Amino acid sequence: MISKYTYGEPFNTEATVKFVEPSFSGIKYLKFSGNEFVLDLLENDIVYGLGEQIRGINKRGWKYVNWNYDNPHHHEDTNSLYGSHNFLIVRSSNLFGVFFDYPGKITFDIGYTDRSKMIIHPATTDLDVYLIDGTSEKDIVKQFRELIGMSYVPPMWAFGYGQSRWGYKNEDDVRTVALKYEEAGIPLDSIYLDIDYMERYKDFTVNLDRFRDMKGLATEMKAKGVHLVPIIDAGVKIEPGYDVYEEGVRKGYFCKNEAGEDFVGAVWPGKVHFPDFLTPEARAWFGSKYEVLTSLGIDGFWNDMNEPAIFYSEDLLEDAINKIGELNNGNMGIDEFFAMTDMIGGLNGNEAYYDKFYHCIDGKMVKHSDVHNLYGFNMTRSANEALNLIEPDRRTLFFSRSSYIGAHRYGGIWQGDNKSWWSHILQAMQQLPALNMAGFMFVGADTGGFGCDTTEDLMLRWLQYSMFTPLFRNHSCNGTRFQELYQFKTVEAMKNMIDIRYRLIPYLYSEFLKATFGNEMMFRPIGFDYPDDRDALNVDDQLFLGNELMIAPIYKQNANGRYVYLPEEMMLVRMNSANEICTEIMPKGHHYIDVSLYELVFFIRSGKSIPMCDAASHTSELDFDTITMVGYGSSRYVLYKDDGISSDLSKTLEKIEYKN
Ligand code: NOJ
Repeated sequence: MISKYTYGEPFNTEATVKFVEPSFSGIKYLKFSGNEFVLDLLENDIVYGLGEQIRGINKRGWKYVNWNYDNPHHHEDTNSLYGSHNFLIVRSSNLFGVFFDYPGKITFDIGYTDRSKMIIHPATTDLDVYLIDGTSEKDIVKQFRELIGMSYVPPMWAFGYGQSRWGYKNEDDVRTVALKYEEAGIPLDSIYLDIDYMERYKDFTVNLDRFRDMKGLATEMKAKGVHLVPIIDAGVKIEPGYDVYEEGVRKGYFCKNEAGEDFVGAVWPGKVHFPDFLTPEARAWFGSKYEVLTSLGIDGFWNDMNEPAIFYSEDLLEDAINKIGELNNGNMGIDEFFAMTDMIGGLNGNEAYYDKFYHCIDGKMVKHSDVHNLYGFNMTRSANEALNLIEPDRRTLFFSRSSYIGAHRYGGIWQGDNKSWWSHILQAMQQLPALNMAGFMFVGADTGGFGCDTTEDLMLRWLQYSMFTPLFRNHSCNGTRFQELYQFKTVEAMKNMIDIRYRLIPYLYSEFLKATFGNEMMFRPIGFDYPDDRDALNVDDQLFLGNELMIAPIYKQNANGRYVYLPEEMMLVRMNSANEICTEIMPKGHHYIDVSLYELVFFIRSGKSIPMCDAASHTSELDFDTITMVGYGSSRYVLYKDDGISSDLSKTLEKIEYKN
């Protein structure tokens, strides 16, 4: 049952799609003090959720600030990341879910100030709070997901392996990547184009010196089974003569400053204006520009810098430069020096910028900071809604960096700029169930790590984790060690892992569709299926994947194995390559399992089997009709499959029963 409580005058975020009659009694379970919501927690209570946030599956013990923020250096001590997903499930004396539908800054102090209290503090008290009672966590998630609407389904090719790097500068770089993958015999479905394909970082342009014939390149790549996926940034470069800029100014589609002029921020291209994605007109206008690229044969996009990230504003930059002049007395001491570095460091993403611009909604100026977390959501929406008009019959791949609940109906997300750190494998995995709770199904992290230099063993272990996530993309930052798989000596072992991914695609895609259609989670904490098993509730580095699998990746350097907890008897599956499968039935309980660097280990649940097809070089070559079942005894599996491309999701959906 869902109860809705309204405080003040909430902004209509469009996160939900179902009408819920507001309740006029006081909110259940939580205490509302006038500006914050408080819940007493007992020692063993668990708090799940918050989508893309740091720390463990149980969110107790930290202070999380949901304020979409470009933070490529995040770690355990961080409070804000790229997305804000204000949905929690509390397992306490009462079991309930709670969604704070609030688009501004909101703080979740979950036992940070006081271990026995959860304190939720929105910046203003204009919000809707939805409280969900249910019989289990899974039941609460289902009700919540029905409330927020069905999640986005990408084309099936997006489940293939993708290679990306900030730094592919021209057509030949792209061709080299495709060729080297082909030579190494490693399956590949997509190559991503980062900002260098554009002309001076201008959205919807192509640098013709470096990409002389984008259409030709896209066609050539498609013939090899590879889709090109260009990046689109939120900021539009200010440059006379640039049509997107000029049209946006003329038609009044950009966010305004207090004086009603187009607001100026700065990102990659220098000074930019930000489209007012919160208005339907600007959304339709910006979205229509994607046709510049779809007309060249492009069928996938990633939307970036849409928190929106702002490097500097003209006034703060000028202040900083003046103050540095004052501080520089020719012999800077500790105070002056740190004042200077703090000032420079504080320019990027400074919160002050977000108070200085406005959205014009129904004739009213709305300060950006009051609705900040909706910006990326509406950029993805702009692309999705426009592509539904431009390409009504086929699905287009979209994923975004920034998001809010509601964006899950329009695209997937990648989990932002991580690092080539072991801890970031675990962090990515721990976000998965919380993202599914919030409706984000097409998700994945930068495999191998974005920032810092990766290592061969880290890459192998990362592949063994990411091969299970819907979005499976290797991406890295300009200036870091090259990490395309053919760069490593152990390329053969890496190829084996990608081959196994392709064998698993029928299962992954089928479970993705089932979870999406059924408003369920593809990735679940172990405790969601075993709420009465204290050991299961404590597990935070294993996940159920669909109804048949459990994954327990290795995320520690030099670890040749790990402890796992099996809440039921399961079948351990070891795979060194696509066609070598060793299985062993293991009893319920705690186990230590050996896992060499070159092998993949996962578990099949008691009495279950999964479908596998043969590996192939591209998803287009996968044969979903020739299935081998791997699993337990006489089990059955219902495979969901479709043509992988039609927008009408029911048109080609088939449900085929396989028996082991
Ligand atoms: C930031 C994104 O998060 C990253 O993935 C991308 O490579 C850079 N922007 C450059 O576009």
